[in-house]
Amino acid sequence: MNLKNIISSLPSYPHKIMNVFSGTNSFDEFKQVLKALLFDKDIVASKNNSKYIKTLQNKFNAHHVYTFASGRMGFYTILKSLGIKKGDEIIITSYTCVVVPNAIIYTGAKPIYCDINKLDFNIDVNKIEALITTKTKAIYAQHTFGQMCDIDAIKQIANKYNLPVIEDVALSLGAKTNQSYAGTIGDFGYFSTDRTKIINTSVGGFVFVNNQKYLENFETIYQNISYLDKSFTKKLAITFLIDLLMMHPNMYWLGKFTNPLFRKFGIIKYFLDEQKHNKSDITEYPYPAKFSSILALVGISQINNLENNLTHRKKLAKYYNDILQIYPESYINSEKNVFLRYSFLVKNRDYWQKKFSSKIDLSIWFTTIAQGKNSNFEEIHYTVGQNQTSEFVAKRIFNLPTHQKIDPTKIKKLLLELKNSKDIIKCH
Ligand SMILES: Cc1ncc(COP(=O)(O)O)c(C=O)c1O
Repeated sequence: MNLKNIISSLPSYPHKIMNVFSGTNSFDEFKQVLKALLFDKDIVASKNNSKYIKTLQNKFNAHHVYTFASGRMGFYTILKSLGIKKGDEIIITSYTCVVVPNAIIYTGAKPIYCDINKLDFNIDVNKIEALITTKTKAIYAQHTFGQMCDIDAIKQIANKYNLPVIEDVALSLGAKTNQSYAGTIGDFGYFSTDRTKIINTSVGGFVFVNNQKYLENFETIYQNISYLDKSFTKKLAITFLIDLLMMHPNMYWLGKFTNPLFRKFGIIKYFLDEQKHNKSDITEYPYPAKFSSILALVGISQINNLENNLTHRKKLAKYYNDILQIYPESYINSEKNVFLRYSFLVKNRDYWQKKFSSKIDLSIWFTTIAQGKNSNFEEIHYTVGQNQTSEFVAKRIFNLPTHQKIDPTKIKKLLLELKNSKDIIKCH
């Protein structure tokens, strides 16, 4: 059997299917990481080589920036610096990722879930006050899918009860209101740079401490946080390289199969603690841990390209919206929205997801409350039925990626079909 016959006998798969992961990385970043991995022995021992981390920190226009191995670890450190402990309560949105309540639970405290609104999928600010008790220790302001929440209203409530505000900017790096960037308005802001976010360093996150009052405590705790060990750091760098190659639109037909195998055999690594509701169950890496120097190389390049990245995302959101006509132009043009995804609600989600899946691997976000959790919600202190709008949205959310490797023309026909079907649920 010659090679041609072997290949033609392989199962067919829709080639050039588009994948939704960040897709913002360049071949130059690939070369930098590979070179560092091969020739710079110190770089994986992050402690000995912090120069890239310092350069990265200086790229942010903020005074007090601290880098972490992931966003969730940054959030956990914020909570520890506030002295959050057993018996305390933190008000969060129920429309989030499970790693958020997990971080709260790891401190011994309890997440209290506030419902969202259908307009921008952010916390319903009219429902926050009713949840405040003497146990409440902070209010969480998550900017979902790239769209800023009503941070001014949240700050007003927090001020009234003398509570700190923690901004979650994991999904919304670059969004701003009245010249202030998301993440610089609350007492703390934290960000994620994992492969699904606005910028991609494979895994990573950082924290802004905006209120001087909390700085000393945070600094003391941060000093005692360790780095990931050499072997884990190396694996993260290898993961970045493999993902960049195999998640490429022209390679994804292969990557879709090889990446789960690489993951199974421990060649590629992410932080997979979504199902761990006890901190002591996380044994493979320290939680929290600091960011790695080798990935900081990527972070620097990603920040340098941030303006282009954001411009492109806006352009794609406009493209989708011109066809689907879901949002008013003011929503699309608003500087408050950086469109990590172009998100909206549909009836018959399963039907549309199946249709689009021949062209694009959608991996729709948050299809349950606390994404990543599909059952046993009591483990994260949520009662099913508690927040009806969050549950309604989770069942109907549809979101389209906006990164630089997405070719929206490939789904134009489907978008038109969806538009004409009248299955879109308009909330504006
Ligand atoms: C809304 C939200 N907040 C926080 C995080 C945590 O970020 P990381 O994955 O870097 O820990 C995520 C992760 O996807 C998220 O979706």
